[in-house]
Amino acid sequence: MEIRLQGAVGFDIGHSSVKISCFVNGAKHDIIFPSVATPAFTISDENEERRASDETVVVNGKSYFFGKTALIQGGLSCSTGLSENWIETPEYEALMRGGFKKIRALGIEPDDCVIIMGLPTSLHSRQKAALKRLAGECTKGRVLVMPQSLAPYHGMMLDEIGNPSSRHSMESEAWAVVEVGYFTTDIMLMQAGGMWVEKAAGSSRGVALAADALMRSMGEKDVTVDMNEAEQALQTKTIKYFGENLDVSKEVENATSSIVADVLDNSKKLIEPHVRKLDGVIIAGGGAPLVFEEIKAKWPHAVLADNHRFSVSEGMRRYALVTLRLDAMSSFSR
Ligand SMILES: Nc1ncnc2c1ncn2[C@@H]1O[C@H](COP(=O)(O)OP(=O)(O)OP(=O)(O)O)[C@@H](O)[C@H]1O
Ligand SMILES: [Mg+2]
Repeated sequence: MEIRLQGAVGFDIGHSSVKISCFVNGAKHDIIFPSVATPAFTISDENEERRASDETVVVNGKSYFFGKTALIQGGLSCSTGLSENWIETPEYEALMRGGFKKIRALGIEPDDCVIIMGLPTSLHSRQKAALKRLAGECTKGRVLVMPQSLAPYHGMMLDEIGNPSSRHSMESEAWAVVEVGYFTTDIMLMQAGGMWVEKAAGSSRGVALAADALMRSMGEKDVTVDMNEAEQALQTKTIKYFGENLDVSKEVENATSSIVADVLDNSKKLIEPHVRKLDGVIIAGGGAPLVFEEIKAKWPHAVLADNHRFSVSEGMRRYALVTLRLDAMSSFSR
């Protein structure tokens, strides 16, 4: 009887950043890099060239920069994949291969791990086989795919090492999740006993909606900003303007109201009939702080997920630990 799998990895390829949470030999590691990939080219500066080689992968025989290198060297010509068939593109594969490269750089061998990946809730059933196939070309580890909105729920129900949390009970508690990402906001409902409610699951627009609104409102003032800059400005509320920091808090407030309205509208449609009877609503994902106060004003049992930006990869990592344990138990009983 051989127990080959030893580590747990939550691998979340988001449209703004790739977040990876690993747990191997009792130690936890988090990785984050921008979701940008662009065809590689020669860099003349030696130091930068060395750094670029750490962030270069080969897809279909062609080299790609990924992460920070792609963002800095690619300039405005590279974009994140704001389309539903993103996982079929070479850029997506470059981000996946890039993530595995960064995991290996930490001395962790993905071939020895249970790896859980996520997809937007609305694309999960359509794309999970393709995602699994693609991951299977990058690693011999055991790959599972889950709807990304499920992960923050597992993050709450399981503790750091994948045991049932002492503070919550999957058997008796019912929770909803509103996970605010860049491309999508994912919503789901889990009834007591871990029962997924199909009709309450769906996806709506993410923070890109607000970044786009900010970009357009700045354009009307003759200040041209790109999507990356607009996304940053949603948090910093400033834009660099010929050596000065332009205060754009009013524009950010207007832009943010578009996503708040959209998230509230869709959350209401999907979970309103159940919400009063729930133990709570987890507000997760990078964009959670943008909508939390307004959702809490409507639903006082809303809670902000711990480490909200990593809430998907962390929940998947914890669930991977459960899978690892179940696999070990079944191999003992064989
Ligand atoms: N503290 C914060 N306050 C406000 N916004 C934030 C904060 N941290 C991150 N964000 C923004 O939240 C957005 C969503 O981030 P997240 O990493 O969850 O998206 P993603 O997983 O890449 O996207 P998707 O899940 O749609 O593919 C990003 O645009 C990010 O800039
Ligand atoms: Mg995400």
